[in-house]
Amino acid sequence: MDFDTLISEALTAVGPPSGGVVPAIEPATTFLRDDAYELVGRHSYRRSGSPTVDGVEEALTTIEGGAGALLFGSGMAAFSALLDSLPVGAAVAAPRVMYHGGLDLLLRLHERGAIRLRLFEALDVSGLAAAVEGGVDLVWLETPVNPLWTSIDIEASASITHGAGGLIAVDSTVAPPVTTQPLSLGADFVFHSATKYLNGHSDVTAGLVVGSDRDRIDAISERRTELGSVLSPFDAWLLARGLRTLAVRYRRASESAAMVATALEPHPAVERVLYPGLGSMETHDVATTQMTGGFGGMLSLLIVAGADAAKAVATRTKVFKPATSLGGTESLIEHRASIEGPASIVPANLLRLSVGLEDPDDLVADLEQALQAIS
Ligand SMILES: Cc1ncc(COP(=O)(O)O)c(C=O)c1O
Repeated sequence: MDFDTLISEALTAVGPPSGGVVPAIEPATTFLRDDAYELVGRHSYRRSGSPTVDGVEEALTTIEGGAGALLFGSGMAAFSALLDSLPVGAAVAAPRVMYHGGLDLLLRLHERGAIRLRLFEALDVSGLAAAVEGGVDLVWLETPVNPLWTSIDIEASASITHGAGGLIAVDSTVAPPVTTQPLSLGADFVFHSATKYLNGHSDVTAGLVVGSDRDRIDAISERRTELGSVLSPFDAWLLARGLRTLAVRYRRASESAAMVATALEPHPAVERVLYPGLGSMETHDVATTQMTGGFGGMLSLLIVAGADAAKAVATRTKVFKPATSLGGTESLIEHRASIEGPASIVPANLLRLSVGLEDPDDLVADLEQALQAIS
């Protein structure tokens, strides 16, 4: 079946018994037993799994080409459960620049001895090779990396990781399965903040881990049951509804972001545009090989006049809304260092843009008028 068809049928994979083309939501937290005191269905109590969530997980397992998928109440809850499934003191390697919330969690676990963290430069795989020397339990990759949008070679990283005896997980939040399928490139886990492109409407927080091995997914599922970090059936249903339009949303966002990036690259107020699809990016070749269905809607602008001017631009756009997050239908703009806080190592003059589904000419004009106001 064509991949777009698979995605657009994501919701019907839940299998409504009524014949409705959209499934009902099963809200129960507990499930009956019969006269022999056996469970009537597959479920006992919602914290260990429920029908609506199961259906969406099955659809995502197929879409990502995995052996099993788990949904969580947020991306961070999914990341926590995956880390919690590692042995105490496990060696973990991660990029020096990555989603700041995930990095903060890794640093805190390292400080209290739960993991031994090694950070690596993500510009080429030699940084990773050095970080895993002497063995590793888990390599955490994010590609393209937030908010510099450098691409990391998944296939080469998987081979280095496996050579060092470890497992590799890829945060593919900004490169959803319509463009990159990390499991097919050798990753052991693919991770998503499903809050972003998979849902796509800025109205659900959710996390996803899909694994190539059922036993490993079962081990993380046990952690999820203990932690209680399940997704509600209502949010799972909304997520599946959003998922059905992922292919068209992502394609449109990719086309528009490419137009915005190209239009702003020569702008005198812009020092540099960071976008995986631009030939000026050091890792453009990796992105071209790895992001086969578009370079996505995420880009960053470095503003010539510095941090205050960048912040001023973020308050002067009208179509781009000044808010954090990404992957929704609406375009967003944020001064990333302010969002990340004082420990941020992101350039102070960086504006992060999430391009949505508005007309691309309106988006370019909006940024041009905001940049005009600061010059
Ligand atoms: C790349 C990336 N990974 C992980 C997360 C965390 O996901 P959540 O906010 O759903 O917990 C985010 C959130 O911004 C993200 O952008």
